[in-house]
Amino acid sequence: MRTDLLLHSANELLTLAGGPQRGRRLGDLGIIPDGAVAVDRGSILAVGPSSTLRHRFQAETEIDCRDRVVLPGFVDSHTHAIWAGDRAAEFEMRLQGRTYMEILEAGGGIMSTVRATREAPTALLTDLARTRLERSLAHGTTTIEIKTGYGLDLATELRLLEVCLRLDEAGPPRVVPTFLGAHAVPEEYRGRTDKYVALVSDRMLPEVQRWWSDQAPGRPLPFVDVFCEEGVFDLDQSRRILTSALALGFPVKIHADEFVFLGGASLAADLGATSADHLLETPADEIRRLAQSETVGVLLPATPFGLHLDARPSVSAFLEADGLLAIASDLNPGTAWCESMQMTIALACRSLALTPAQAIVAATINGAAAVGLAARTGSLEAGKRADIVVLDAPDHRHLGYRFGTNLVSRVIQGGQLVI
Ligand code: NIG
Ligand code: FE
Repeated sequence: MRTDLLLHSANELLTLAGGPQRGRRLGDLGIIPDGAVAVDRGSILAVGPSSTLRHRFQAETEIDCRDRVVLPGFVDSHTHAIWAGDRAAEFEMRLQGRTYMEILEAGGGIMSTVRATREAPTALLTDLARTRLERSLAHGTTTIEIKTGYGLDLATELRLLEVCLRLDEAGPPRVVPTFLGAHAVPEEYRGRTDKYVALVSDRMLPEVQRWWSDQAPGRPLPFVDVFCEEGVFDLDQSRRILTSALALGFPVKIHADEFVFLGGASLAADLGATSADHLLETPADEIRRLAQSETVGVLLPATPFGLHLDARPSVSAFLEADGLLAIASDLNPGTAWCESMQMTIALACRSLALTPAQAIVAATINGAAAVGLAARTGSLEAGKRADIVVLDAPDHRHLGYRFGTNLVSRVIQGGQLVI
């Protein structure tokens, strides 16, 4: 039988077959030694031993993956990849002892990126983000979630959603958009958080819904996210925004317990959120409640690393209680300018005590679950999109074990060789 593409002779082919992996089952890579994968018209046709597939398929293009690992493209399920300016000066201030929240309260932090982003033309924002996405792709990310949230007024927030759509059209990588109008309280609403919450809930969300059906007809609505944090949006304000979003048909996510425990993880579980992210300060009993829900817990180990904080999420309590765990980069200019899921895996092995196999599952099929795409990407199984990475390493443990160099030798997205 003829086919477009055949990757064969992989030392290890990681299929990650069988769907997202909960709790203690996390870490089943479904390894086929001397494995092969056949691709046709953008989708995976078959996976199996090289001897079988090379016999069955005559491919237009064959790639010999001897001494290499073949695995699904990474799904980076939490980023803030569209912004202008940078915060190198704040990084230095933090090294000298100022905290992230002090800088935000003094009008810096997210607010300084908001000022730069509002001023930047859409074309410039697109170019800046495009460069970041190219680096993510080069490091193996084939699907990336991107949040708005550096506009904080309707016009700029819609421009950021427009950038998401443009980046997706121009892809790879594939972009999953999230509306984060509630990322911070903008300067013009300082001291009037409730008014801003009402604006987001009652005006912005319906406008986003209208704009979306106009600009992206037929495409599912973006996610809606909230930064639920002391000094930003409290639990009631977060509930108000997310409840309004759900009523309009948006799927939801939440930034929960990043600096202070407020109860965002339980709110996510109660509302049926697709994911609850960060969870650095979530106590073990709340973590167990989240674990028993359908909500994915997304951990972002580059963030405490980027902030040089010692806080750690309760990973073992979450897994013991059968939670669904993903990891993501949190790519953003303030806490974690990290475009590499390989680096995220290396950090997860050290600071979250995941094995390389567990971290790889969390960065692929479970990451896909965190953006509602587990049926389409995140594993190498017949019928799924051909989003595939070839690593210049002999076994999967080199992910995690090694860090700071790019191990990717090829990236295939939707059947096309893109790196
Ligand atoms: O996930 N916590 C809120 N959002 C980002 C940081 C954004 C910023 O500092 O610009 C985060 O860490
Ligand atoms: Fe974030």
